[in-house]
Amino acid sequence: MSKNLQEIEKQYIIPTYGRNYTNFVSAKNASITDDKGKEYIDFTSGIGVVSVGHSNERVSKALCAQADKIMHISNLYVIEPQVKCAERIVKQSTYDMQCFFANSGAEANEGAIKIARKYGEIEGESKRYKIITLDKSFHGRTITALKATGQEAMHNYFGPFPDGFTYAADLDAIEGMIDSHTVAVMIELVQGEGGVEPLDKKKVQALEKMLKSKDILLIVDEVQTGVYRTGEFLASNVYEIEPDIITLAKGLGGGIPIGVVMTSKKEVLSPGDHGSTFGGNYLSTVCANTVIDILVERKASGELDETFLMFENKLKEVFKNNRNLFTSSVGFGLMRGLRVKDAQTLTNIINLSHEKGLLMLKAGRNTLRFLPPLTISEAETNEGFKRLDEALSSL
Ligand SMILES: Cc1ncc(COP(=O)(O)O)c(C=O)c1O
Repeated sequence: MSKNLQEIEKQYIIPTYGRNYTNFVSAKNASITDDKGKEYIDFTSGIGVVSVGHSNERVSKALCAQADKIMHISNLYVIEPQVKCAERIVKQSTYDMQCFFANSGAEANEGAIKIARKYGEIEGESKRYKIITLDKSFHGRTITALKATGQEAMHNYFGPFPDGFTYAADLDAIEGMIDSHTVAVMIELVQGEGGVEPLDKKKVQALEKMLKSKDILLIVDEVQTGVYRTGEFLASNVYEIEPDIITLAKGLGGGIPIGVVMTSKKEVLSPGDHGSTFGGNYLSTVCANTVIDILVERKASGELDETFLMFENKLKEVFKNNRNLFTSSVGFGLMRGLRVKDAQTLTNIINLSHEKGLLMLKAGRNTLRFLPPLTISEAETNEGFKRLDEALSSL
């Protein structure tokens, strides 16, 4: 008998993931089907990636049309959809910035750290290189992004790491940690992997002001919060701040890998300072342009806000009806979580939801995370919450 997919995977894939072996073969918007014909509702959107739904017709048409024309040329030449993508991103952001294109969130954050470090070399009296991040932060898996990540457990092995990263327990602790070598502070406005933890808006605004007064850069990692996930194009817009550097990835490409670092410090990087073979190629930026167009239209028509409200109402109901399981409801926009009374119950909820045909995520130690496509329909939302109810009642 031939080996099944799980056996072949175990033989050939390095085991870095605790995988579920459901083999998905097709999907449309927030509905996804496995190879046995079982249909699931997807409240994960591939961890915040398929922002305009699975197999979005406009994205797939744009991708195929572009693939037929030209896919890749390298950044030695101007790439029209890349230029148009940067223009769209900057205009939607409302900030006066320029973009660099990469392929993932971690890579975008590497770019952000490089801009900050060079700024610290060329501006000011002495060299500044230290970057302060938050304890429960997550910034990616490359060696430097991992070191920027404040979760100590992630720093087992892999050293020595680059110097110069320190971790603040919370926003209040940051000012006291600044010294003459500090060049930047890097935060997620809603910590995603850390447990769907929104930062306090007033405190973030005060932090921005304090940093500006000391010429220390504010880097906002919007890899998960960006591109309308939290209601506006950027969570920075929701928080009404003007960061110096912002990173994007996940939802921007609608399923195609892309990362962006954007900055108002346009003078810092010069030719040769940074680069990427694939970053911002025709395929990824054509997809990103289509994703942005779709979401800008949905925002303008009111559909996006309606979807958020509809989802929020269902979430409120499930929270209210299950106070024995959930201790609090956290997050905003379509980046939401329910804190579960203990980690084992959370695992049981996710497994039972899967059995009932609903994909759910964990965040932090005990948060049931909701990251559906931003285009999820009312019927899909209702069906998903019905399945969640069934899972909860069979606990
Ligand atoms: C806030 C944040 N930054 C960075 C990353 C890393 O992104 P990637 O996995 O695309 O490298 C993630 C991924 O979950 C993230 O949530």
